[in-house]
Amino acid sequence: MCSGQFRCGGRATFQERTMDQVTDTGALARQLNVDPYWAPFTSNRRFKADPSDRTMISAEGCYFTNANGVKLFDGSSGLWCTPLGHSHPRIVEAVTKQVRSLDYAPSFQVASATTIQLAERVAEMAPEGLNRVFFANSGSEAVDTALKIAMGYHRLTGNATRTRFIGREKGYHGVGFGGMSVGGIVANRKMFAPGMVNGVDHLPHTYDQSKMAFSKGQPAWGAHLADELERIVALHDASTIAAVIVEPMQGSAGVIVPPIGYLERLREICTKHGILLIFDEVITGFGRTGWAFAAQRLGVVPDMITFAKAITNGIIPMGGVIARQEIYEAFMSGPPAAIEFCHGYTYSGHPMAAAAAHATLDVYEEEDLFGRVRALEPLMEAEFHSLKGEPNVVDVRNFGLTAAVELSPSAAGPSMRALSIFEAGLKQGLYMRYTGESLAFSPPFISTEQQIKDMVAILRKLIRDAA
Ligand SMILES: Cc1ncc(COP(=O)(O)O)c(C=O)c1O
Repeated sequence: MCSGQFRCGGRATFQERTMDQVTDTGALARQLNVDPYWAPFTSNRRFKADPSDRTMISAEGCYFTNANGVKLFDGSSGLWCTPLGHSHPRIVEAVTKQVRSLDYAPSFQVASATTIQLAERVAEMAPEGLNRVFFANSGSEAVDTALKIAMGYHRLTGNATRTRFIGREKGYHGVGFGGMSVGGIVANRKMFAPGMVNGVDHLPHTYDQSKMAFSKGQPAWGAHLADELERIVALHDASTIAAVIVEPMQGSAGVIVPPIGYLERLREICTKHGILLIFDEVITGFGRTGWAFAAQRLGVVPDMITFAKAITNGIIPMGGVIARQEIYEAFMSGPPAAIEFCHGYTYSGHPMAAAAAHATLDVYEEEDLFGRVRALEPLMEAEFHSLKGEPNVVDVRNFGLTAAVELSPSAAGPSMRALSIFEAGLKQGLYMRYTGESLAFSPPFISTEQQIKDMVAILRKLIRDAA
C-alpha cells in the first residue's frame, strides 16, 4: 500500500511529529505512517499508493505547500471554505486571544458572550425577517438542524402531519441521515438506502447540457422545472410536506447555477402551500456570490438559511441555521422553564469558532471583499469561458467567484479524466476539486487578477496535456 518516501510501520515520537521542528518537507514525509489514516470522500488506495503530492505540510495566503515541496495555488479555497486564504494574521490573533480568555463554554443553559455577539452579527447580515441564529459545527449538522426545526415548527403550529421533506436531484446537504436523505447524489446514497429518512421526495435537477452548455452566469432555460414541485405537492398533498431544501447554486455537484426565475417560482409555490423553503447556503453563504447570501443576490428570501464554511474562513469548524423570527416564536411556547427545542451539540457556538468568525467577518467588511467578488466575477467568467474549444471541454459554468469545467467522459472510466487532471495539478502548482466529470473552482476572495489568470493558464495546460 505504502510507497515513496512514506513510512508504513512504526510510530514517530511526538517531537518527531511536531511540524514546526521539521524544516525539510521530505524529512517530514518520511516520518508519516499513512496506514491508519482513513480519508473521507477519498480514493484511499490511490492516495496511499502515492501520498506525497496530496499531503499538505503548510499553507499561507492563497497557497498550500505539499510534502514534495510544491507550492499549490488553492483554486478551491480548500473545500470552498477559506476565502481569506490561509493563516490570516487577524484570525490567528483572534483565536489566540480567545483561547486565553474563554477557551470553551457550554452552550446548554449557559453561553459564551462572543457567540451571542456573533448571532447578532449574523442576523444583521441575513435577509430581512431571518434573525434567529442556531449554531452547529458543520454544514451537515446545520442541515439536520434546519430539517428538525421545520418539523418541530409544523408540529407546534398545529400541522403535525407536515413531516415530508423535498430535496433535489444532484443536491448535496452533507452526510447526516437527514442531509443524506434530502441529498441527490447517487454515490452518497446507494450504500445507505435502508437508512433514508421516511417520506422524502426530490425535485428534478436543473442541469441539461443540451439546453444550457456554456451559459454565462444563470442559464436562461429551466425555470419551468420548478413547477415539478406542484406535481410533487399534488402527489403527496401539501398537508404532508414540511419543507423544501435546495442549494441556491448546487456546489458539490459541480457549480450548477439556478436558471433565471427558477428559485422565484419555488418560493411562490412553497408560499402558496404553506411549505417552508430552506436555502442551504453552506457554500454560497458569506460572500461567494458577491453578497452575504445568495438569497440576497438572487432576490429570493427563504424561511431558513443554513451556513458553515466561510463564516470562520474554515479555520475552526462552525455551522448554523438562520430562521425567520416567526419560526423561532413558534417554539417559545409551553411552560416558561421548559427546554423548547431538544437539540444542540456540545460544541454549538464554540467560543473559538465564534472568535474566528468575528475576525473573518471584520476582514470581509473592512476590505469590502464581497465587493471584490463582484469585481472579479467578470474576469473569472471571461477566463473560464476562454476554455471553450479546448480538448474534451463540453461545458463551462460560472457564478460569483465559482466556476466549473465539464469534461467529456474518458474511455478509462467515470471521473478518470477529471481525476488525472486533479492529480497532475498537484504536481504543477494547482489544487482544485473534481466531482464526476467536472473540475470545480472557487478561489480565495483575496486572489489577484493575475492569480486567476495564472490558475486558468495552468488549467488550460493540464487539460491539453490530458487530451
Ligand atoms: C450545500 C452544502 N451543504 C452541506 C454541506 C456539508 O457540510 P460539512 O461537510 O461541513 O458537513 C456541504 C459541504 O460541502 C455543502 O456544500
